[in-house]
Amino acid sequence: MKQDMIIILDLGSAQNTVLAREIRALGVYSEIHPHDITAETLKTMENVKGILLNGGENRIVDGQAITIRPELYSLGLPMLSIDYPQSKCNQQLTALPDRETLKKFLFEDCKADANWNMKNFIEDQVELIRRQVGERKVLLALSGGVDSSVVAAMLIKAIGQQLVCVHVNHGLMRKNESESVIRVFRDQLHANLIYVDAVERFLGKLEHVDDPEQKRKVIGSEFIRVFEEEAHKLEGIDFLGQGTIYPDIIESGTKTAKMVKSHHNVGGLPEDLKFELVEPLKQLFKDEVRACGIELGLPHDMVYRQPFPGPGLGVRCLGAITRDRLEAVRESDAILREEFAKAGLDKKVWQYFTVVPDFKSVGMKNNARVFEYMVIIRAINTIDAMTASIEKVDWDVLEKVTTRILAEVANVNRVCYDMSPKPPATIEFE
Ligand code: XMP
Repeated sequence: MKQDMIIILDLGSAQNTVLAREIRALGVYSEIHPHDITAETLKTMENVKGILLNGGENRIVDGQAITIRPELYSLGLPMLSIDYPQSKCNQQLTALPDRETLKKFLFEDCKADANWNMKNFIEDQVELIRRQVGERKVLLALSGGVDSSVVAAMLIKAIGQQLVCVHVNHGLMRKNESESVIRVFRDQLHANLIYVDAVERFLGKLEHVDDPEQKRKVIGSEFIRVFEEEAHKLEGIDFLGQGTIYPDIIESGTKTAKMVKSHHNVGGLPEDLKFELVEPLKQLFKDEVRACGIELGLPHDMVYRQPFPGPGLGVRCLGAITRDRLEAVRESDAILREEFAKAGLDKKVWQYFTVVPDFKSVGMKNNARVFEYMVIIRAINTIDAMTASIEKVDWDVLEKVTTRILAEVANVNRVCYDMSPKPPATIEFE
């Protein structure tokens, strides 16, 4: 293994991620693990140089004392206990421990080397994946989103043709998205990629389904069914690759932290698929995942793309999905992205997209009355997607986008701009 490692044991502190990032900023790789980790598990990890007990021992969470296994004290590893006063819990890591104490612990007590960088991380993960998988095969649902793309690139580097990627086109992808997955992974990285055209199947199932939650459910469960069918066609698969990243683990709740929200990714895969998981990104934060993708040679626009909901354009084609409106969403979204990129707004605005409601308005084309759809533009900025404010887009850019949508997108006679912050509106419409 290339990198030294500091283990942070989660004793119920709200500061685990801040601390992990602080240590990584000092050049040392750190991983966050549950407080009840066994000595045996720790012994299987290489290059562990020290342990930080984060949250102070014997903290009470939900009436239970959170404490570590006593056997950890006899591992002979340097340990530091950080007891944050409750009142400081929601503040940034300040003086407890201050940077100097932390540095002294890392570099003097633990004698760790500052050798954490993406190149070393990838080399270590490649070795760990090879050890775990051996000669066997891994299956991966490759949506083309940042996380699944980076995992795919990592697995291709580690095990090449032993990775089988399945890309399901559910018909709710953005313009040219599936094509770009095929171009990058099949043509450039020579991945073993199965492309499943499930467009008709999904659109068939979604016909007349107008309730937003029901739409999500149909898309999610149909995705699982398609993926399962593909998995059953294959033989000799023992592992499932997953693009789990550290924020997913926090959001789904850890042993000491409550769940923030349930995960609603289309990629949520069935539990009864009896595979062992390969999750090489599960200790990384989003910016680190992107850096990892770049280091692995993925294109910039794939790694730095804006968030895109699992159910795709399905939640932007409001109400019961119809093909004409779905095309209007897809085409207008492509125009918006193109114009935002030209204006440099793609680097500035957190998320921007178009929506097509399921009603029409009166208009005029070629001197005749028309009754057609409208496109709503939404562009927002946020830190954590929990609250959001609108981007005050330059009038000229909006006019250019509007002109192009009205000229190029069929069945559309009106363009609006959504001025609503979150709350009370959410970022998506459904
Ligand atoms: P809302 O609409 O709840 O969205 O303000 C917050 C962020 O989450 C994204 N989003 C989803 N992402 N699966 C996802 O992976 C989903 O079902 C989903 N719904 C919303 C949304 O695009 C925004 O970035």
